[in-house]
Amino acid sequence: MSWTTPPISELRDALYAGALVRLPPVPASTALVCRAKGLLEAELGPAPREAVHQLADPELFRRLGRVRKALYLDPDALTEIAALLEEHGLDPSEWVTDPARLRVIHPHGEQNPKAAAVYAVHRDTWYGHPANLVTWWIPLDDVPASETFEVWTDRLDEPVANDSERFDYDEWVSRGWNLKIGWQDPEAGLRARYPGFLGDRDALGKGVGFAAQEGESRLFAGAHLHATRPHAGARTRFSLDFRIVHLGDLAAGRGAPSVDDRSRGSCVPDYEPLGGR
Ligand SMILES: [Fe+2]
Repeated sequence: MSWTTPPISELRDALYAGALVRLPPVPASTALVCRAKGLLEAELGPAPREAVHQLADPELFRRLGRVRKALYLDPDALTEIAALLEEHGLDPSEWVTDPARLRVIHPHGEQNPKAAAVYAVHRDTWYGHPANLVTWWIPLDDVPASETFEVWTDRLDEPVANDSERFDYDEWVSRGWNLKIGWQDPEAGLRARYPGFLGDRDALGKGVGFAAQEGESRLFAGAHLHATRPHAGARTRFSLDFRIVHLGDLAAGRGAPSVDDRSRGSCVPDYEPLGGR
C-alpha cells in the first residue's frame, strides 16, 4: 500500500478501510505551518531546528513546552483547522477535533529514555479515541522518509499484543491537561502510563513510510498501527498533528476496524467543534 489522494466524497470510507492519504499544501495548512514556526522562532530564534545543538535539555524542553501549550490552546489554530477541512472540500460542521500538537523529533532522540513514548508503536485509538478517528499530520519542513513515521497497514484488522487496558482517558486528564499536552514536566515521559505495542518492532517488518513536503497533509485512520522513526539527521524534525472525528459516523458506529483497543474513558466530550469558526 502507498499514499493516495482519493476523491473527497470517498475520503472517509477510504480512510476507514485503511487508505493512507496525501493532500497537497493549501493556504490553511501553510497558515498553520507559519503559526507554528512563528511560535518556535519566538522561543528558539531564527533557526529552531538547530536549537538542539545550542540549548541545554531542560531549557529547550521549557521553551518547547510553551510552544506546545500556545499552539494547543490557540483558538486561531482551530479556525485554521476548520479552514483546512473546508479547503479540501469537507464540511467543518460535521467534524470535531482534538487540537493541534507540536511534535519534536530530535536527532538521536531515541537514546533519551525520557523520550521513549515519542517512538512507541501504537494505535491512536488506544488513547480513548473512537474507531472513526482520523489522524491529520503536517510537516513544518521538507523531510526525507528517514525522518517521518511508518504505518503497518497490514495490522489494521489484525490484533497485536498491547497494553491499552492500562490507559484511562478520564484519569489521564483528571489532574489537568499537563500530561495530555506535555508542556511542563520533563520527567513525565518516564512515569506516564502510555499504551503501546508489546512485541518486537523489528518483527513487524518495514512499515509504509514516506518523504514529506512542507505544509502537505497526511491522513490515516487513528486505528492504524504506526510509529515515529528515530532519525540521525543533523536537525530537529518538527510537525503538527491533530485528530478529527466525523460526528455522523460516530453516531452511526461507522469507522475503521477496532480489533484490540481496550482503553477506557473517552476523549469525545473534550473534542472542539469545528463548525461556525
Ligand atoms: Fe500516533
